[in-house]
Amino acid sequence: MVNIERLYSDRAGKMRKSVIRELLKVTQDPEIISFAGGLPNPNSFPIEDLEGVIESVMKNYGKTALQYGTTQGLKELREIIAERSYKDGIDVEPDNIIITSGSQQALDTVGKMFLNPGDTAIVGLPTYLGGINAFKSYESNLTGIPLDKDGMMVDVLEDTIKKLLKDEIIPKFIYVVPTFQNPAGVIMPESRRKKLVDIANEYDLIVVEDDPYGKLRYDVPPVKPIKAFDDIGRVIYISTFSKILSPGFRLAWNISSPELCRKMIICKQALDLCTNTFTQYIASEFMRLGSMDLHIMKICEMYKPKRDIMMKAMDKYFPESCICYKPKGGMFAWPTLPEGIDTELLFLDAIKQKVAYVHGKAFFVDGGGARCMRLNFSYSTDEQIEEGMKRLGNVIKEKIEKNKVVL
Ligand SMILES: Cc1ncc(COP(=O)(O)O)c(C=O)c1O
Repeated sequence: MVNIERLYSDRAGKMRKSVIRELLKVTQDPEIISFAGGLPNPNSFPIEDLEGVIESVMKNYGKTALQYGTTQGLKELREIIAERSYKDGIDVEPDNIIITSGSQQALDTVGKMFLNPGDTAIVGLPTYLGGINAFKSYESNLTGIPLDKDGMMVDVLEDTIKKLLKDEIIPKFIYVVPTFQNPAGVIMPESRRKKLVDIANEYDLIVVEDDPYGKLRYDVPPVKPIKAFDDIGRVIYISTFSKILSPGFRLAWNISSPELCRKMIICKQALDLCTNTFTQYIASEFMRLGSMDLHIMKICEMYKPKRDIMMKAMDKYFPESCICYKPKGGMFAWPTLPEGIDTELLFLDAIKQKVAYVHGKAFFVDGGGARCMRLNFSYSTDEQIEEGMKRLGNVIKEKIEKNKVVL
């Protein structure tokens, strides 16, 4: 047998399995009600519309749609994205857009571009686990900035940057999910977005804005992306078709300065040569037909009541000592449970009762988050949400009772 461990690079040796990917395996059991994955609801996929689009792509563009494409991505798709971005407040030329294989690939590429072993990047406390994994895989150190109900606390951010610089550590970038954050669900108001750009300008830093959920908006007016306040090309904006069309397409886009774009394309070349050409044509044609906005509206109409069912069920079945901000968009609720509960340990009790979630510590780079749990409300049926929350409420109440006995 090959003694493989001794042959791995230091980098590969240090890579850890994604907690969520592992959890998703447990939750394959059909009896388990899973609030764990960040999955869109399969009933939201516009299957019939796409059947027509796929047929027309094959008929009209078959020979190019089945061919390799450019690394930067299909021009027609980038043009439509540029038009749509303009409406959102980002003035961008199609040449400054890159289509990637999911936004996860963009995050990995950001890591590849900026992080040497031992380098520091700044992330939220909590933040998206896939971001943590991507940046950690480049052997970086991640410094966390706490969030409040308005997202990353920019005052703490500035103090932290000052401290790092004093220790001669230049943080390579600030990674932020400002809109309906994964996992905390919070949205950063415009004033804080501007302040964040001011801070990045003041200390000459890059901001990586990850925005998969901005269009899944239920009861707040839209807020412009951070990128809209960036005049000099220091914000890399990333978004994806995963939550508004299909994660199976593996299609996302990012917007950055010409210089950063050039470097990113080179980094991407070694990863996959080009993003899936066929799905790029499909997404492009779907949007050209004007179907996207209506489709997003339908998704929001499906998810908003699910969010409401989850929040009501939380009121009904969880102990009063559990606190939860009501997310105004996105896919996740993020309750904090009372002192003395560790959601990582509680997970085993939950699985016995056939309900699953992701424990809070998975999203913290400083070991925090033990009392938090991430609950996805987009994937399950309404009935499953009600039943799953009831089961989870009972699991939490039982734990509190047991803790009292121990005390
Ligand atoms: C904040 C955030 N960034 C990136 C991703 C990755 O998405 P994609 O399917 O585009 O790779 C996700 C997926 O859940 C996410 O929540």
